[in-house]
Amino acid sequence: MSFTIAIDGPAAAGKGTISRAVAAHFGFAHLDTGLLYRAVGARHLAGAEPVAAATQLTAADLEADDLRTPEVAQAASRVAAIGAVRAALVDFQRAFARRAGGAVLDGRDIGTVICPEAEAKLFVTASPEVRAERRYRELREKGIETDFATVLADTRERDARDMGRTDAPLRPADDAVEIDTSHLSIDEAVAAAIAAVDQAMKER
Ligand code: DC
Repeated sequence: MSFTIAIDGPAAAGKGTISRAVAAHFGFAHLDTGLLYRAVGARHLAGAEPVAAATQLTAADLEADDLRTPEVAQAASRVAAIGAVRAALVDFQRAFARRAGGAVLDGRDIGTVICPEAEAKLFVTASPEVRAERRYRELREKGIETDFATVLADTRERDARDMGRTDAPLRPADDAVEIDTSHLSIDEAVAAAIAAVDQAMKER
């Protein structure tokens, strides 16, 4: 049996934390699809042509330890606007979604393009200021020197590119349950996500 949970939303809304917790709760496998675009972005920064990098992506590329930097995030957002890059990554994501035992995929276009038939769809969001504040703290904790204004500008730039592209833009699927985490603790956000999935399981 397969059961797919699609979790989309903008950067730093809490998708990653929620997805990992939901996957652990239901015993499902989890794929952070942003990592695919980050790996392509990182290879592009190192000189590779983006479509070739996407076509040749290997599991080892996803384990590179420099994928969480702001430079790689921006490069990921840029290569993600290239239709042929997105096309090269579709089959892998769909196969993952349909694996036996259930899967959680988080990204930008999972509920709309990759898995429009997903059994449960969530759209996790928060205000740009709250998301930038969270990202700012994360970066500082990792020892990356930056200031809040830069992180906020970066967040807005990535949002605009991710929402404005023609190919698979970031937007909620019509049947997605929206969770705004601006004023929720992590535990509250996770509980809301699990409740939404439980509801979707009942309605099947
Ligand atoms: O979720 P993230 O911040 O790791 O994603 C990095 C970039 O990759 C994001 O700015 C847009 C792109 N992306 C995408 O276009 N589609 C996805 N399913 C996941 C990420």
